[in-house]
Amino acid sequence: MDNRKTVLSAIQPTGDMHYGNYFGAVKNWVRLQDSYQCFYGVVDYHAMTMPFNPKTLRENTWELIFNLLATGIRPENLFIQSLVPEHAELCWVFNCFTSFGQLTRMTQFKDKSAQSGEDGFISAGILDYPVLQAADILIYRADYVPVGKDQEQHLELTRNIAERFNNQVGKEYFVLPETIYTEVPKVMSTADPSRKMSKSAGEKHYINVFADDNRIRKQVRSAVTDTGDTPEGAMSPGVANLFELLKAAEHTAVRESLLADYHSGQLKYVDLKDAVAEALIGISTEIRNRRADLNAHKKEVKDQIRQSTEQIRKRAQETIRDVKDLAGLMNVKF
Ligand code: TRP
Repeated sequence: MDNRKTVLSAIQPTGDMHYGNYFGAVKNWVRLQDSYQCFYGVVDYHAMTMPFNPKTLRENTWELIFNLLATGIRPENLFIQSLVPEHAELCWVFNCFTSFGQLTRMTQFKDKSAQSGEDGFISAGILDYPVLQAADILIYRADYVPVGKDQEQHLELTRNIAERFNNQVGKEYFVLPETIYTEVPKVMSTADPSRKMSKSAGEKHYINVFADDNRIRKQVRSAVTDTGDTPEGAMSPGVANLFELLKAAEHTAVRESLLADYHSGQLKYVDLKDAVAEALIGISTEIRNRRADLNAHKKEVKDQIRQSTEQIRKRAQETIRDVKDLAGLMNVKF
């Protein structure tokens, strides 16, 4: 019996893994594995809420699985959401415990529905997205959810759903999950340090963890430093972001010496950039090597993940059985 507290988190399979994802989330997930029982999901059902291509979706799901394994996520902690269809089943039940008005007021829904394509199509899935996320969390009866501040509203909704369910069935069945906001660095785009590093803004706004050394060097070399509009005495956002990257990469000694140069007015930006590029290349090399080992055993790795998902699914099935009992639905004997 595993008495450790349970952590759940999830990530959508939407393509390249960049240093914003790595330093901001995945690196922390790797660390949490030492102290908690962790479940990490690749949430492909969520990836269908915005326009998508079926072939790319499946490819991206495997791609992300391999990438997560290469960063040090353990296979037994990983699952693929669509191989645990109980998530969708619990989502349906939760729909009936969710306020429609509250869903329409979610920030993410407002943002995403404003980005609808030319045809104006907005899926009901994008409205329902947070209910599926609540199901992801509560189906494993997770104690903690490590996420960024932007997910706070979704966690609040998750607790509202759990409470409403508990009240209606007259049992404190679901524990109310808490967010863990670990001190994670906020990595900005090197091309525009006023915005978060992200894929949606385009290629120059993110550094891919799997990019080759030259590409990483080039992107860091072209990072925006001084823009001339920073107030006297303050560090410009671009320079601060480069120091933040060094910190995230745990290149502490180099960072301190460069910071001292900065404060004495001696810092050459090219030295700072080179230090950042070398730090990232060091991390990328290690992750790329592990990825190459995994690529050499593709079939075994996929089988292993199917098995770990099957194992993790058992916990989800227990929850569904309890929920159906409590809600007055029928259970098939299995
Ligand atoms: N909405 C999350 C994000 O965009 C992804 C996600 C889906 C998630 N289900 C989750 C995160 C459950 C934590 C727990 O980052």
